[in-house]
Amino acid sequence: MDSSIQEKIEYSIVENRNAFIAVKSYLIIGLLLFLVLMFAGFLMRAAQGTWLEMNADIFYQVMTAHGGGVVGAAMLASTGVQWYFLRQHVRLSNKIFWANFFIFIAGAILTFAAIFKGQYGGAWTFLYPLPAMSVGVWSINAAAAFQAGLLVIGTGFLLLYLDMGRAILARYGNLARALGLPQLFGLEPVNYKHPASVVTSTMVIIVNFASIAAGAIVIIMGIINLYFPEFKPDALLMKNLIYFFGHVVINATIYASVIAVYELLPHYTGRLWKTNRPFYFAWFAIVFMVMGVYPHHLMMDFPMPSWAVIVAQALSFGSGIPVLVVTGYGALMIVYRSGIRWTTTNKFLFLSMFGWAAGVIPAILDAMIENNLVLHNTLWVPGHFHFYLLLGMLPMLFGFTYHLTGEGDHTAAPRLFDSIGFYAYAIGAFMTSMVFLASGAHSVPRRWAVHFPEWVSFAQVGTIAAVITVFGMLLITLRGLFSLPWARDPNQAALLPDQANVVS
Ligand code: HEM
Repeated sequence: MDSSIQEKIEYSIVENRNAFIAVKSYLIIGLLLFLVLMFAGFLMRAAQGTWLEMNADIFYQVMTAHGGGVVGAAMLASTGVQWYFLRQHVRLSNKIFWANFFIFIAGAILTFAAIFKGQYGGAWTFLYPLPAMSVGVWSINAAAAFQAGLLVIGTGFLLLYLDMGRAILARYGNLARALGLPQLFGLEPVNYKHPASVVTSTMVIIVNFASIAAGAIVIIMGIINLYFPEFKPDALLMKNLIYFFGHVVINATIYASVIAVYELLPHYTGRLWKTNRPFYFAWFAIVFMVMGVYPHHLMMDFPMPSWAVIVAQALSFGSGIPVLVVTGYGALMIVYRSGIRWTTTNKFLFLSMFGWAAGVIPAILDAMIENNLVLHNTLWVPGHFHFYLLLGMLPMLFGFTYHLTGEGDHTAAPRLFDSIGFYAYAIGAFMTSMVFLASGAHSVPRRWAVHFPEWVSFAQVGTIAAVITVFGMLLITLRGLFSLPWARDPNQAALLPDQANVVS
């Protein structure tokens, strides 16, 4: 063989190994962060249930670390999934992927230091002007360090999205083609093999670019206000920017993770996940919907223009439908009579379809103005997002993790250890979310460190649910920690970018 070809092959092998180590690092850090922060969730529930004494200042620090930390962990791990599959179709830079990883760690250290050393407890939403009004609980520097940490994390992700965008443009010419729009509008014949991961990734890149930019603007204005209080930005504008940023970023973690469902269910059923016009339509629609619905968080802000909240309500009704119908129906069809083996991978992927679909219902209920009058700022809100994050997004990540560990092998029967982990997690997560919803339905407010005696029994049941969830999560994390470091890439051939096996 020509020595230059030999060199190229060796280089590709080293690059692929390096890429796979990076993906596993994203997952391992993500799993560890989730485990620790879910334990923090249990502590908060136990404190609200009077089974644990926790000073209110500490409660709000824990709540800030929990909220911000899990969103960060979700961004990290879901990006690992997205990058792994996107890399099978376009040429991505390992260096930038690693750079984002280390920037994330640096940003996370800064935010945790701001919380636990600087006592910042103003929640991950850093709602203006709260960070500047701590009544002596935390310093200006702590509030600034927390927001600077988020800015650092956002910068890393922007860098990574730039690289993904560059690679997609290099292969598909423009973003519209990557989204499948020429096929949607009949300008090109429908190609069922156009990769779902490319469509989904393009959508995620577009919306997250906008959300991180909004986040950066609001953080910089917030930091200026901290040091120069005479600079007073408009509070409603700040809230709009913050909720636009937060809503899009957390939803995009689900859209990035669902790639595991599109890529792995075909693998285990031996069927193709056909991309077609309804699929392109759904992902095109969701680009606008996910960015347009965020005012449903501001329905009780009376200065908000009425049209904005009415549009948000209408969009909220529809926003779940396009992607969910396409994905849920697609998953049912691909599994039906396929002879699929119910390995832990497949069980998690299927659970995720339930969690995502069912979790959207309480979200839509809350996004109706009449209901929002009653449910706003009650535990109904954590109820809906815990539902689709715990039972929708995380199981997608777990399905991918088990796939990499080889547990998802066609012939493998789930080990008892993994089965216990699966059922403990599924039951615990369902209970955790339902107790939040039931508390909200009984008007128990969110973000109260100390609960009235009438509410305590809800928190106590929630604490038991949290114990079961954390136990399941512990087993899942242990599986990841013990198996991932030695796992070989199940898709080695497809990982060679030059040999991408899917025709665009
Ligand atoms: C064992 C699992 C978990 C438990 C027991 C738990 C518990 C809690 C509790 C008690 C709160 C504060 C509720 C309040 O307002 O009074 C909370 C807030 C929150 N949780 Fe969890 N949680 C868990 C897992 C997760 C996961 C996996 C995610 C995301 C992927 C998540 C995201 C959040 C967010 C974003 C908040 C809002 C924080 C804020 O209001 O600033 N949680 N959780």
